[in-house]
Amino acid sequence: MKILILGANGFIGSHLSEHILANRDWDIYAMDIGSDKISDFLKNPKFHFVEGDITINKEWVEYHVKKCDVILPLVAIANPATYVRDPLSVFELDFEANLEIVRHCVRYKKRLIFPSTSEVYGMSADTPYDEEESNFVTGPIKKERWIYSSSKQLMDRVIYAYGKHKDLNFTLFRPFNWFGPRLDNVWETKEGSSRVATQFLSNIFHEREIILVDGGKQRRCFLYIDDAIEAMIKIIENKDGKANGQIFNIGHPDNDVSVAQLADTMIEVMSKFKGYANVRSKVKITVKSGTEFFGAGYQDLEARIPKVENAKKLLGWEPTTDLKTAIHKTIAYYQANVPAGTKLGESEAE
Ligand code: UGA
Repeated sequence: MKILILGANGFIGSHLSEHILANRDWDIYAMDIGSDKISDFLKNPKFHFVEGDITINKEWVEYHVKKCDVILPLVAIANPATYVRDPLSVFELDFEANLEIVRHCVRYKKRLIFPSTSEVYGMSADTPYDEEESNFVTGPIKKERWIYSSSKQLMDRVIYAYGKHKDLNFTLFRPFNWFGPRLDNVWETKEGSSRVATQFLSNIFHEREIILVDGGKQRRCFLYIDDAIEAMIKIIENKDGKANGQIFNIGHPDNDVSVAQLADTMIEVMSKFKGYANVRSKVKITVKSGTEFFGAGYQDLEARIPKVENAKKLLGWEPTTDLKTAIHKTIAYYQANVPAGTKLGESEAE
């Protein structure tokens, strides 16, 4: 099987490529604007990588959609700080640029596996969120955070319509707060520039203060990346065609914590690592409003729990990594991969 991964150097793309190259006999054709996370695979004869930009190297993209069997367009902005700061780029990349690729899949009759998002449910009050039944609830136009949710939602609808009316073979998957090694850059986070898991780990490593936006009562379910990749592999394998035309929430309903609990758990796990026994006394925890932290266009959701029965039933997948184990594995990875010259907190030097 030939798989096209656009955005192979991203968080999901790099983990997926790594797993496929180690465990499967599939050929990967890949493009990304960078290659720092995939440098180890560049010499692998099954990894056919080209550095490039999907919005510029359009002929390469079209040619490879034609050439491959399964298409994974993983290029997107998926960071709330950017939704508020640069909403037009979110629309242009996540919707407009990806729409061209979706249309190539229709034209060349290729199987499309597309990343939707937990954010399509917005502020829906349902617990848990159901792929078929839950309403999508977003805020007013001035709350620009919702441009990501809206772009992704429209894309889901377009893909579904192509499936129903033009025979596009698709699967939509909805990540619910996936995290693990290589999500954002733990060593260089500026406050408000990363997803929460990376931001907090970075603050803990550097012994900087952790900021709980709006007090940290809002809840998320965090899924470890290895569990997520297992789900993706099952979707790609598509045993008996069971993933065809399906939408899957991919998350861990039991790893449901408030943002404040996440910070506390991360500190607790970190304190077990050598040199960090006193980390709790060194990392201050403070509170800021969402407007102060992200800007006036920010609005948050209180809780977000995935219903994963569809993935269990059709893919035979379920999440297995509990939150503490997931945090432990992520910290262990970073500890083993501190770039030379990085300045960490004082505890590290003890
Ligand atoms: C994320 C992003 O939109 C996408 O990565 C993705 O599509 C989706 O949700 C997902 O992965 O399920 P969100 O969960 O709000 O959205 O992302 P984070 O930026 O990680 O924030 C989580 C919570 O932590 C928010 O309530 C935020 O206000 C809070 N936060 C963030 C803090 O309290 N402190 C910080 O330093 C950073």
